[in-house]
Amino acid sequence: MHIYTLLAFTFILWVNFCKASEHNPRTAQCQPLHIVFDQSASPSFNSHFTAISPEGSYALTDKGLEMNLYKPNGRVTTSAGVNDKIGDGATINSTFTLSAGKVTFQVSSPTVSGVIVAGILIGDTSLDEIDIEFVCGEPDSWQTNLFVADPRDSRPEYGVFSSKQKVDSVTKLHSYSIDINGEKITWSIDNMIVKTLAKNECTRNGFLHYPTHTMRVQLGIWDASSPAGTAEWGRGPVNWTGAPDKITATVKSVTVECD
Ligand SMILES: *[C@@H]1O[C@H](CO)[C@@H](O)[C@H](O)[C@H]1NC(C)=O
Ligand SMILES: *[C@@H]1O[C@H](CO)[C@@H](O)[C@H](O)[C@H]1NC(C)=O
Repeated sequence: MHIYTLLAFTFILWVNFCKASEHNPRTAQCQPLHIVFDQSASPSFNSHFTAISPEGSYALTDKGLEMNLYKPNGRVTTSAGVNDKIGDGATINSTFTLSAGKVTFQVSSPTVSGVIVAGILIGDTSLDEIDIEFVCGEPDSWQTNLFVADPRDSRPEYGVFSSKQKVDSVTKLHSYSIDINGEKITWSIDNMIVKTLAKNECTRNGFLHYPTHTMRVQLGIWDASSPAGTAEWGRGPVNWTGAPDKITATVKSVTVECD
């Protein structure tokens, strides 16, 4: 599940999106939700989430929603800072969408270098994206990002709103939140705000880059071992000789609060 940063692929989507783009008016929409993932959470999980990745890529256990990344089949060759094969990881979408609200993920991540764990809001019919990401090779930080394509941008504005935040260890269960409304986006850890982006701070090249479309919640774990730019950002490639064949991140709960 490396689509968020597979630049080439995203660029194609971006170009297509730009051709078809029309900024829909924001429709206030938010349904409160609190799901604690455990073995008995299947009905609730199945009504609010849908896996994009195959069965076996995730499991509801007494620890939570376990999202797995598997070592690729066959021999993996590393050269020039990239792997020739990419492991398959879990990607799970929410079936619901929202355009405003506070989404909190309680999550713990592995520490394998080259692995990314993400809890994001991603545009339902757009490329709007608000991210919380764990670069697992950097276990004492987490990253925040916002990406909104404007059809008038000469190229996609990746990374311009990204930043790194401190955490004692990503392996410990913490609550990470994205809170968005018509005026601002805030990111917090354990209810402490660490970053605020006001809408009027989101102008780049004279164009506003602020989400305007409804979004889904998307959870995932993915292998950042290629291409080179992604691997470099993600502290990849994964060294599968040292890493376990199955790498797991655990989401304990997802909460949506509405204003
Ligand atoms: C998951 O969400 C993305 C972003 O909204 C969407 O493009 C994709 O079609 C969704 N897939 C499924 C299976 O729901
Ligand atoms: C990969 O891991 C193995 C086993 O831990 C180690 O011997 C090897 O040096 C590592 N390779 C790299 C390139 O770090």
